[in-house]
This record gives sequence, structure tokens and C-alpha cells, in this order.
Amino acid sequence: MESLKRLKPYLTEHKTRLLQACLVMVAVALLNGATALVLKPAINAIFAHQGDYRMLWGVVLAIPAIFFLKLVITYIQTYLVNYIGQRIAQRLREELFRHLHALSLDFFWRSKTGEVLSRLTNDVTNLQNGLQFVPLFLVRDTLTVLALLVVMFYINWHFALIAIIAIPVAGGVLGVLGRKLRASGRKGQEVMGEIYHRFQESLQGMLVVKAFNYEAEAMVKFRVESDAFFGQMMRYYRATALSGPLMEFLGSIIMAAIVLKAGQEIYAQTMTPGDFFTFLGSFFMAYAPIKNIAQTNAQIQLALASADRIFAILDEKPTVMERPGAVRFTGLREGIVFDDVSFKYPSRDHWALRHVSLEIKKGEVVAMAGSSGSGKTTLVHLLLRLFDPTEGRILIDGKDLRDYASQSLRAQFGLVTQDTILFNDKLGANVAVGSPGASLDDIRRALEVANASEFVADLPAGLDTPLGDRGLRLSGGQRQRIAIARAVLKNPSFLLLDEATSNLDAGSEKSVQAALERIYPGRTVLIVAHRLSTLQNAHRIVVLHHGEVAEAGTHAELLSRGGIYATLYRFQQLEPGIEDEAAPKEA
Ligand SMILES: Nc1ncnc2c1ncn2[C@@H]1O[C@H](COP(=O)(O)OP(=O)(O)OP(=O)(O)O)[C@@H](O)[C@H]1O
Ligand SMILES: [Mg+2]
Repeated sequence: MESLKRLKPYLTEHKTRLLQACLVMVAVALLNGATALVLKPAINAIFAHQGDYRMLWGVVLAIPAIFFLKLVITYIQTYLVNYIGQRIAQRLREELFRHLHALSLDFFWRSKTGEVLSRLTNDVTNLQNGLQFVPLFLVRDTLTVLALLVVMFYINWHFALIAIIAIPVAGGVLGVLGRKLRASGRKGQEVMGEIYHRFQESLQGMLVVKAFNYEAEAMVKFRVESDAFFGQMMRYYRATALSGPLMEFLGSIIMAAIVLKAGQEIYAQTMTPGDFFTFLGSFFMAYAPIKNIAQTNAQIQLALASADRIFAILDEKPTVMERPGAVRFTGLREGIVFDDVSFKYPSRDHWALRHVSLEIKKGEVVAMAGSSGSGKTTLVHLLLRLFDPTEGRILIDGKDLRDYASQSLRAQFGLVTQDTILFNDKLGANVAVGSPGASLDDIRRALEVANASEFVADLPAGLDTPLGDRGLRLSGGQRQRIAIARAVLKNPSFLLLDEATSNLDAGSEKSVQAALERIYPGRTVLIVAHRLSTLQNAHRIVVLHHGEVAEAGTHAELLSRGGIYATLYRFQQLEPGIEDEAAPKEA
């Protein structure tokens, strides 16, 4: 009911067209009644005036004429109904798309991509079907059945009473069968979803499938679902196989009763052949609309269930909310302070960050070190306000981060993430994500800084080379350089480099780093890296350990301190040495 109420504005938007559609449907119903009604004079004329060709031709021409009229009206009806359904589906799809972009990251951590996608596709389609079919069933088909009943009563009310008893019986049987069909059909859909998921998994992970000889095992899992689908669909088809013939059989019994009674009346000359055929014609014409009416409730339920799921997504509130009166962030003036910040991922029990207090002054280059899972990426994401601290606050120029408009904040940040995300677009456009209106020269300069010009020049279409899912595959290091160019092009006042050069070979890393360091002046920079040699030039290095700040200082200070950093550093320095020593001993 709630969903029905919420659908109202979507429908009222198309008031005029809906009204037009209803009027056309009334016309279709009347025409259906008329079709049955003209049978009577036509047939009576043929029987009564044998040899009268003028009469015969009149009847012959009337039949296509009526159906031509019906064609025109049905066309208009179908056009209008589909137009409304499509428009509403389009609006919902756009609202869903926009809303998904407004939601905070925790929604995407919580939900399965497949499920969200199914709402964007299946549920919108179900709802659209409901919006298109329910009015047809309720208006056109109900009126058609009424019109045909009127015809039947007009012809012979005794017979009409037999038919009237048959209608609810037929409707009931069809309703029950329909429910069975839908239930097994829905289960079939679910199983199909699993099969679809398997396909997707293998398509995406074919490399690992092959490298790990996973083919046979994947096939076994697939076979299980495939068999389940077969069984489910056979149940569905068994129900379908029965429903059509069963209805026809029931119809034949009623028809037999009518023929018996009609035969008696025709023998007694109380009924004309025209009456008989008109009656039978109406009876058969009522079958399809009755079948539809019996489905109406199920159609409504299906559509409303889908509407519920669609509105559930639209009702999701972003957890990162814009505060009323949020101010525009125009650039850092003093610095950023983490004031006793703690953060816990909603799905986790332990703290990803715990009591983190640190300061990043404007123009400073601060590095974050720490073992895998110590919370470095989390800290970077907090700065972008992708989520809010669970406890404590982050101050920018003395003002809580949450008091700034997020978009204006993010506009000042240039982020290179650990995993490079490329969009289905040309290489140039991928670099220009976040910098709309960048000139080709700007893009080339950014690629230069990222040490990417050379490999881009070697690509078949240079900047116009399509990338992403359906485009060209790049190596990990090449992807990363595109990401660096993207951040550089944005010309941000705050640069966030999360393992930005981790996929590059030592040579490229050095040159990219040197180029990046040339653009550091005038910007505030936060670097995260495992390779500690890349952090040495930072003004300050902060070491995270299990989400807490373990130590901080310059490279030299931390080394002389002999703590975590010093141990890690020595270890990395020694790495080649260890291998060298180990090799001859084993030989
Ligand atoms: N989306 C998430 N949901 C739940 N837990 C998460 C999520 N992202 C990270 N974590 C957890 O939070 C902790 C900190 O993760 P984070 O990614 O910040 O570590 P990191 O220091 O960047 O590690 P690495 O050096 O491997 O990139 C880890 O224990 C991780 O498992
Ligand atoms: Mg990380």
C-alpha cells in the first residue's frame, strides 16, 4: 500500500496520457462487444436471404472494416500504455542511478553488486510490466467482459446465466494455476540468477581458473545449479502444460451444455442460428480477458514487491551527510589536525584506527608507514570524507571536516588509489576524470609527470585508445601511471598518494617520484608506501601500528630511535643481501 502511494506522483505526471489511454481502452472494449454483436445479423442474413449476394458482400466487408478500426485503436492503446510504462521506468532508473551515486561507501560494502543490479534491471522491468498490464486488465478487459455479457444477455438471458456461472469458475481455476506458475517461475528466476553469477565469476576470473586448473571444479558447481534449474523449470512447464488444455476441457463442458440447450431451442425454433453463433462467439471472446483478469492480483503483487525493493534503495540514506550551512572549502590555509580519531568499519569488531592524533601543516610532505592492515588507507579515506570518524574529529584550518561541503573538499584533493580504477572510455578521458575541460596539452603534461608519455605514444590510437572493461588491457604499472596523471592533472592543493608507485619497476619508480617531487612545492602531500626508501625525503614520517600512531619523526630520527621503522627499514635494506647469502649456502 505504501509503495502504491509512492507511485502516485509517477503516474500523475502522465495524467493526460493515462486518461487518453483509458478512453481508448473503453473504445476497445465497446468494439469487442460490437464484433460479437454483428455476428447475429450477419449470420441470420446469410441463412434467411440465401442467394442475396448484396447482403453477403455487406457482411464480408464489415468484418475487415471492424477489425481495421480495432487495429487503429489497439495501436493507439498499446502506444500510450507502453509510453507511460517506459517513461516511468526511465525516471526510476535515473533516480536509482543518481541515488546510488549519492550514497556513502558503507552501502556498497554492505550490498552485493548482483543484488543491486537486479533491482536496477529486473525489478524496474517487473514494475514497468505491472504499470502496463494492470490498467489493461482492469479497464480494457473488465469492460470487454462486461460488454460481452451485455451481448449475451441481450441475445438470450438463460444462456447468459450459464456463462455467468462459468466465469468465476474459470477465473478461480486460472487464478490458482497462475499462482503455481508464478511461484515456480520465480524460483526458476532465482536459480537462473545463481547460474548467471557462476558465468560472471568464471568470465571475470578466467585467468585464475586456468592458472589453478579450476575448470573441472567450476564445472561441477555449475552442473549442480544447472540441474536445479532444469528441475525447477520442468515443474514450471508441467504446470503450464496442464493449464491450457485443462481450461479448454472445462470450456468444452460448458460449451457442450450450451450446444445441448441451443440445439433444443433451435429445433423448437425459439432461437436463430445468428443468436447461437453470437452467443458462442461472445463466450470464446471472453476467454482471454477473463484469463487476464484472473492474473491481475498476482501482477499487482509482483509489481508492488518490486516497487518495495526499488523504494528501499531510494530510501537508503547516505551516512555521510552534508551538514546544513556547510561552507565551501577553498583551500588549505594552516593545516589538518587529526584529533583523537578512532574508526571502526561497520562490519568489524576491531578498530581500524585508534586514538590517532597527528598534524599535517600546509605545504608539508608527510609519509605514512606501517605494516599491511595497519590503517593507512583508512586514514587517507577519512580525509576525503568517504566516511566519518567513529570517534574524535578531523579539523581543517581549525574547523571540523564535516562542516565543509564534501564536493568542495574533494575538489582540492588529488588521490592515487592502491587499485587503479579505469572507466570504459578513451585514455585521455580517463586521465581527465575530475578535470572536465582539461586541454589536450594539459593531459599530455600530466602524462609526462607520470612518466607515461612514452607508452601512451606506443598505443595504437594514443590518447584516443579505449581503456577499461571493453578496451585495451594495460599492465599494472601502466594503469598506475594513468592514475598518477589523473591526480596530477587535477592540480590539487592536497596530494594523497596511497601506494602510488608500488606497481612500478625500480627505475620507473625513481623517475616518477622525482617528477612528482617537482610538483610537491606549494602543495600539501600525504604519501603512503611500503617501500620505505620512497619516503626518505618526506618532512615527517608517521608509523601506524594496529591502527595507532606508534612513532613519528624524520627518517634520520626514526632510524636512530631503533623502533618499528628502524627495524622495517633495516629489513628492507638487507633483503637483497639475505638472498645473496642464502643462495650459495644452499647450493
Ligand atoms: N571496507 C572494509 N570493511 C571492513 N574492514 C575493512 C575495510 N577496509 C579495510 N578494512 C580493515 O581495516 C583495517 C585497516 O585497513 P587499511 O586498508 O586501512 O590498511 P592499510 O594500512 O592500508 O593496509 P595495506 O598496506 O595492506 O594497504 C584492516 O584490518 C582491514 O581488514
Ligand atoms: Mg592500504
